Amino acid sequence: MQLSETVSLDHEGDIALIRIDNPPVNAAGVTVRQGLVAAVDWLAAHPQVEAAALYAAGRTFVAGADIREFGKPPLDPWLPEVCQRLEDSATPIVCILHGTTLGGGLEIAMGCHARLALPGAKVGLPEVHLGIIPGAGGTQRMPRLTGQAFAVEAITTGRHIALEEALSAGIIDGMATDTPDQAARNAARAVLDGALRTRATGAQAVTADPDALDAARARIRKTQPHLYSPLRCVDAVELSTLPIREGIARERVIYQECHDTPQRAGLIHAFFAERAVAKVPEAGIPPRATDHIGVIGAGTMGAGIATACLLAGLTVTLTDRDDAAIARGRAAIDANLDGAVKRGKLADKDDALARLATTTDSAALSKVDILIEAAFEDMAVKQAIFADLDRIAKPGAVLATNTSYLDVNTIAQATARPGDVMGLHFFSPAHVMRLCEVVVAEATTPETAATGFALAKRLRKIAVRSGVCDGFIGNRILRSTRRAAEYMMLDGAPFAQIDAALEAAGWAMGPFRVSDLAGLDIAWAQRKRLAATRPPEERYVDMPDRLCEAGHLGRKTGAGYYLKDGTPNPAALSALEAERAAKGIAPRTFTDDEIVSRFLTAMIMEASRIFEERIALRPIDVDAVLLFGYGFPRHLGGPLHQADAIGAAPLVDRIDSFAQEDRHFWQVPEILRDMAHSSGTFAQRN
Ligand code: 3HC
Repeated sequence: MQLSETVSLDHEGDIALIRIDNPPVNAAGVTVRQGLVAAVDWLAAHPQVEAAALYAAGRTFVAGADIREFGKPPLDPWLPEVCQRLEDSATPIVCILHGTTLGGGLEIAMGCHARLALPGAKVGLPEVHLGIIPGAGGTQRMPRLTGQAFAVEAITTGRHIALEEALSAGIIDGMATDTPDQAARNAARAVLDGALRTRATGAQAVTADPDALDAARARIRKTQPHLYSPLRCVDAVELSTLPIREGIARERVIYQECHDTPQRAGLIHAFFAERAVAKVPEAGIPPRATDHIGVIGAGTMGAGIATACLLAGLTVTLTDRDDAAIARGRAAIDANLDGAVKRGKLADKDDALARLATTTDSAALSKVDILIEAAFEDMAVKQAIFADLDRIAKPGAVLATNTSYLDVNTIAQATARPGDVMGLHFFSPAHVMRLCEVVVAEATTPETAATGFALAKRLRKIAVRSGVCDGFIGNRILRSTRRAAEYMMLDGAPFAQIDAALEAAGWAMGPFRVSDLAGLDIAWAQRKRLAATRPPEERYVDMPDRLCEAGHLGRKTGAGYYLKDGTPNPAALSALEAERAAKGIAPRTFTDDEIVSRFLTAMIMEASRIFEERIALRPIDVDAVLLFGYGFPRHLGGPLHQADAIGAAPLVDRIDSFAQEDRHFWQVPEILRDMAHSSGTFAQRN
């Protein structure tokens, strides 16, 4: 019988089977919660039914509360009540787990009186990644099953726990076989036969483990000082020695405090951004073949792309001009694959290498499905390669460039088949970094674009659609924020303070440390390329050029902004002083907050323009690029999520006030001004 839109119950004599069916992941939305309460009520009204089992249809048991309900008015019944009702049921209820039972799903399972899992099942309480704590009894019931030490580690890391570990920790009571419905039937019968023991989790006692809690707090303060919810998870686990109802009431208060933070909104935006980027106009178009990939250029980038393809089980032909380059490429791939074996990402290195062919003869590319050019970043070089590929590639092959900045439209013109040409911009190391910008040029056909997305999916990348502009989405924003950072540096903020302020706010790495890592010559080459078109009124900071001229290119030369030991490079400091003196700049102090505010505002300005020009089709695409390729703090959700959080009107005021010192750089994008007038948001345009 149907108890709600998503929950049904089968009455089979002295047992009952409760089934949740809410695709795609059986999230515990309002109809699931209503259905479960109705099931408990039904059991109470049918005392002749002596055991029940709860299972789910589809690919997984419940993967959590319904994240789409967050931030909206709460709908009754709440999940904590549902779990309590399950636990209070006089009829024992066994839960059958399969797939990934996460968050509210595991909380439902822990509210039941026993848990059996099918092979391959995983469990976890990942709420911390969404800026909250488990809020339906998870912080109270897991310690009752596992002890506080295990629970505090699992809840503060939010990691997925494999079946064997979940069994030994006490979260799962035993294994099940067969399909979930049959396993449920067997389990209910086992309860009746006395073969399966049931008990209420909330009735178990917990021993306080203050050392484990202190250790967790120390670890979090050290590694995630800017995050709110991890420490609150520890606070909640600490309450688990209280009687269950009191503990859950106190857990609820902490949950609500976390739920109301901007961090929760940012983290949930990031969760959806990761998934939203795949919803592109070309999504429904059948792609061409993506099995055999040709990579042109065996440098670091080419070797990384080849590795990514091999790890995804594809066949790769790698070419370069001479044997020495090929040998270096092979060695790099070999080392990359060794690393993948060590990290458990690859089982059989020989199998991967058997799918790799290397040659200096570009004719070998005539059979491949997709060609990815990863050669030197120079338009003449790229055009020559594409003219060549046009002659060699089979009809229907996709011709992709991995350029970071150059105009894909111009590159496409070197061929007689511009419809087959696109950009696939990977990030180094290409076999590790998850982001890939899929650059759709003017002539790129929808089928070609769909093929680029299909390949990125096979490589397990987060693929974001970008139009053509200098630097595409990510590097264009990077250039703008680097300028903002350089202006602050010239005006008096030590670069070490700028890096430290941004890192303390959650950025993976400050901009000057990033430059040292990537090599100062990359931005230098770009500045030289753009020098002829630089408007005279643009403020220009010379110091990075002086560093490059002196051979201080960052880590690869032993010194850049910083020396090897991480202290500021005296050569950088003296070049800065000399430039200030020459330009008559009296250095002033900046607070850390001002540094973060200026950096973020510059980022929002450029991100707004990128959306305004439809280089990115939606604001959330820009956010995804920054989040997954540029170390933007996940809890801030991305620059355009931040624009909404700050508000268009305050942003316009802020930019206008900065403009008093530099009207050329600080200009309010039209779209922001419009939004300030109309009280609009970027979220409305996603
Ligand atoms: N609520 C709503 N929608 C969800 C969801 C959830 N909890 N989990 C996944 N989805 C949606 C995704 O947005 C996606 O939708 P789309 O197709 O429209 O883009 C669809 O389900 C499929 O998800 P994935 O593409 O991620 O599928 P995968 O197979 O790659 O991964 C998964 C499945 C491992 C379950 C992964 O989706 C996941 O990690 N989900 C989040 C789990 C989670 O964080 N649960 C805790 C929620 S908070 C909570 O429970 C609070 C409680 O304590 C009170």
